[in-house]
Amino acid sequence: MASQAAGRGSGPLDRQLRERAAQVIPGGLWGHQRASALPEGYPQFFRAGDGCRVEDVDGHVYIDLMCSWGPIVLGHRHPGVEAAARAQRDLGDCLDGPGEVLVALAERLVTTLAHADWVTFQKNGTDATTACVMIARAATGRRKVLVARGSYHGSAPWCTPLMAGVTEEDRCHFLPFDYNDPDSLAQAVAQAGDDLAAILVTAFRHDLARDQEMPDPAFAQAARQLSAERGAALIVDDVRAGFRLDLRGSWAALGIAPDLSAHSKAIANGHPLAAVTGRDWLREAATRIYVTGSFWCSASAMAAALATLTELHRVDAPRQLERVGQRLRDGLSRQAQAHGLSLRQSGPPAMPMLLFDDDPGQRLGSLFCQEALRAGVYLHPRHNLFLSLAHTEADIDAVLAATDGALAAAAAARRAGVA
Ligand SMILES: Cc1ncc(COP(=O)(O)O)c(C=O)c1O
Repeated sequence: MASQAAGRGSGPLDRQLRERAAQVIPGGLWGHQRASALPEGYPQFFRAGDGCRVEDVDGHVYIDLMCSWGPIVLGHRHPGVEAAARAQRDLGDCLDGPGEVLVALAERLVTTLAHADWVTFQKNGTDATTACVMIARAATGRRKVLVARGSYHGSAPWCTPLMAGVTEEDRCHFLPFDYNDPDSLAQAVAQAGDDLAAILVTAFRHDLARDQEMPDPAFAQAARQLSAERGAALIVDDVRAGFRLDLRGSWAALGIAPDLSAHSKAIANGHPLAAVTGRDWLREAATRIYVTGSFWCSASAMAAALATLTELHRVDAPRQLERVGQRLRDGLSRQAQAHGLSLRQSGPPAMPMLLFDDDPGQRLGSLFCQEALRAGVYLHPRHNLFLSLAHTEADIDAVLAATDGALAAAAAARRAGVA
């Protein structure tokens, strides 16, 4: 990839594409990757990715700490994964039915994920979380699903963060509780009464623009116990954290086996795939729900997933991601202290959230990210970041060289009272 340091950020081609997009795409883009949801000056359009670097359409290269918002775990265009996907595509990808690779991948996931007795495949995380809810309801014959306030589970009417286009009826059987609060969970369980189908939790608390929290063991235990007592399903939404923290499933280290789990993002290193895994008591219900899609059996993403899982195990991915993440965390912490800034780093080192004290609306955080972007590092002021196995210690040191200047600029803005 060509690297042009000067004028990093949205350039002439990016601006041109945004103008063209605005004519033919409502709002110029939907969802979280639209430029209006990013700090001003961030590019919206990208041309290439290689290892831990991405290149925007204007040829500016950045060390990527968003990893495509999670799917990239081995690095962009990992050779082994791409070769596996290409070999399958050369034979055929979207055929009249699935390939052998579907069964091989299901077998691999059942042996990889500690709680899994069976697997079904989809395309996106939303497909997987929605299927989990449907399976729990089909199995129990009940309607109520408990969901933590602020957790993101996808963009279907039952879970999308905005109410536009959504009816109250779409939501009326979803009851809220507070993550990591066993009392609030118990209250919600009581409220659901004998209509409780499932408790749905993310692997850890990774809500937008707030400090992340690992699951408190007492809370996780309560979720497991309450759902078991009530004959309801415990669903762990592992879409974001899956295959980064623990290859056996993100709650395996807590000694807790969910009844259902949803996976996507890192499962195939950027190839479109999602999976629901479940325990035997839900197998029959999983055969009764009707969920499918024209592309859900495409074989190349499954070949990519097999290659990804092999590599993740070979290199002991969670340990390595934690190591590089910790190097970044230690460096940022030293720098923030030197610049007199109160920077909070929360969540697992492999998926850090960076927030500043006294920073409503993340004005200071956005300025810090804009400065880092100019220096060639792609961060986000409100969403957790992602490390990948392509980030070497030297790459982290290059990130830190950029963040030092960005933190200096943020400190100057704070002293001047502008952020
Ligand atoms: C925890 C969690 N669940 C579900 C989803 C939805 O996944 P997708 O965007 O692939 O539909 C996401 C996406 O960010 C997520 O982070």
